[in-house]
Amino acid sequence: MFLRNAWYVAAWASELTGGQLLARTICGDPVVFWCDQSGKVGAVEDRCCHRLFPLSKGTVQGDFIKCGYHGFEYDCTGKCVLIPSQREIPKNARVRHYAVVERHSVVFIWMGDAATADMAKIPELPTSDPQFGWKGARYYVRGNYELIIENLLDLTHLTFVHASTIGNYALIDSPVVKTERWEREVQVSRWMMNSDPPPTYVKAGNFTGKVDRWQIIRWAEPSVVRLWTGAAPHGQNARGKIAPHGAPEGGKLGGIGFFNLNLITPETEKTTHYFWAQGQDMQPKNQAMTDMVFGQIEMAFTQDWEVFELQQMRMDQAPGRARVDVGGDAGGIQAINILRRSIEAEKTLRVAA
Ligand code: FES
Ligand SMILES: [Fe+2]
Repeated sequence: MFLRNAWYVAAWASELTGGQLLARTICGDPVVFWCDQSGKVGAVEDRCCHRLFPLSKGTVQGDFIKCGYHGFEYDCTGKCVLIPSQREIPKNARVRHYAVVERHSVVFIWMGDAATADMAKIPELPTSDPQFGWKGARYYVRGNYELIIENLLDLTHLTFVHASTIGNYALIDSPVVKTERWEREVQVSRWMMNSDPPPTYVKAGNFTGKVDRWQIIRWAEPSVVRLWTGAAPHGQNARGKIAPHGAPEGGKLGGIGFFNLNLITPETEKTTHYFWAQGQDMQPKNQAMTDMVFGQIEMAFTQDWEVFELQQMRMDQAPGRARVDVGGDAGGIQAINILRRSIEAEKTLRVAA
């Protein structure tokens, strides 16, 4: 079950090029995307109403999408506007359409009824923040999306999964950790004062001594996780001066700041489209620096994807197997609880309607 009345990331805006169709299953629904002649993105069910052929196997015809089987054409509201073999178009000749919005370099899709799409709920993303140079990618993960959310909210795994890049024992050696919860968001802040910088930080920040290091992780329903991380030389009172989301002011203290953006879109119950971006504030206009940071952090994150697939494999072998929780799981547990409660509430509303 997924939360339907919510915005998910369907694609990076750069993935949609004029004249091309993009097929993507989201929350179990096959969807096809295209741009009309003005550049506006359309999204409809990837299943022709005639004989259920995938519309993504057809073509873009001006503003419309044309089925590759018998040539029916649809507009971006899902209405059939042309049947080549007859003049009359049956009233029910239509496919479901979805509300889509292009913003912050991504294409968002509302998986509930398009008429109820709530524009106020589109999340703000740091990809529009000029303080950062950033680079993004999309990965396909063979694991449930909740595994990714809980992974990001419990960074004690860095010490073990990412020892060669961003992990070290500072993460579990008495850091100051705070978990905060709002109606639809959870934030975990972790401060590692007077600690050794991990290998990637030494490379990017040229640190020669101890640092004060921060990780501020914020989940927003359904599945956006923003990470603000960084470090400054120890003793500069980074903790007192850094803004709520950490990195921007940290960078000014002779330290380094990063954002890491995770846009986690379920494909099915067992597979996920993982949109991922890495930003740096050291030299925002320096693409080589952005590429270097992206490469370093990506190396670390690929280690996680293997973990998710292996977890999913063991879960499939023992469906419903109970798990043991510890303190570090607090943020993840709260996020998943909020999410599941919203899904239940939506289900209750549907039954009542
Ligand atoms: S199946 Fe699409 S036009 Fe016939
Ligand atoms: Fe990780």
